[in-house]
Amino acid sequence: MAIGDVVGRVGVDFLKLKLPSLKKDYEIDFVIANGENSAEGNGIVPISANKILNAGVDVITGGNHTFRRREIFPYLNENQRIIRPINYPSESTPGVGMRKFKVRDISVCVINLIGVVYMECVDLPLTAIDKAIEKCNDCAVKIVDFHAEATAEKLALGYYLDGRVSAVFGTHTHVQTSDECVLPKGTGYITDVGMTGPIHSVLGVKKEISIRRMKERIPVRFENADGPCKMECVIFDIDENTGLTRSVQRLRVSD
Ligand SMILES: [Fe+2]
Ligand SMILES: [Fe+2]
Repeated sequence: MAIGDVVGRVGVDFLKLKLPSLKKDYEIDFVIANGENSAEGNGIVPISANKILNAGVDVITGGNHTFRRREIFPYLNENQRIIRPINYPSESTPGVGMRKFKVRDISVCVINLIGVVYMECVDLPLTAIDKAIEKCNDCAVKIVDFHAEATAEKLALGYYLDGRVSAVFGTHTHVQTSDECVLPKGTGYITDVGMTGPIHSVLGVKKEISIRRMKERIPVRFENADGPCKMECVIFDIDENTGLTRSVQRLRVSD
């Protein structure tokens, strides 16, 4: 199961409320959640990361907001269940971009990658992912969280990796797309899994604040919205023998 960006305290609490029963109902073996916006305000901090893991998530992925809060830097180095985009250019960037797990006796590799269209300049995604895949050839299952803005960049990466990894899911836009599918060579794909957080918000931020920013064009401090929540995710049914996806199911659970 891949869960869209968990936003703020309300998003984390909603995840905790909904995930245990979903895992049971859908017989989920392994859960990945993007947590780059799980701290109140912005970014991710150790408290929000721990809460996500305690809710039943196996590994947290990140994105452009991973490094917003310095409190998370040591955690990124020490905790074995969190990754950040692999294609940051410096060797000294905290954390790692891929980790390997054992799910029963099956080896699963999760890779986090960030796009370059309307984003920071980082190492080219295609070069970085080729290198990463070389390092996880021993894993039966390979899953990629591609944190990117542009739909075309995400789709192109999906086709680039088709047949080479088990699944590619997009994050960052916080808006779920309806294009979940199995690509021709067997890779499960969705352009964006969406968000876990307040429904009536602009990507999790209080809508009044986003509107004010649009109107006045002056930077404002973002605050997370509250109210009824949704959790958006996809479930990849992966054949561990072929390493490819049999089916993809998209879900949205709300209050
Ligand atoms: Fe996000
Ligand atoms: Fe992001």
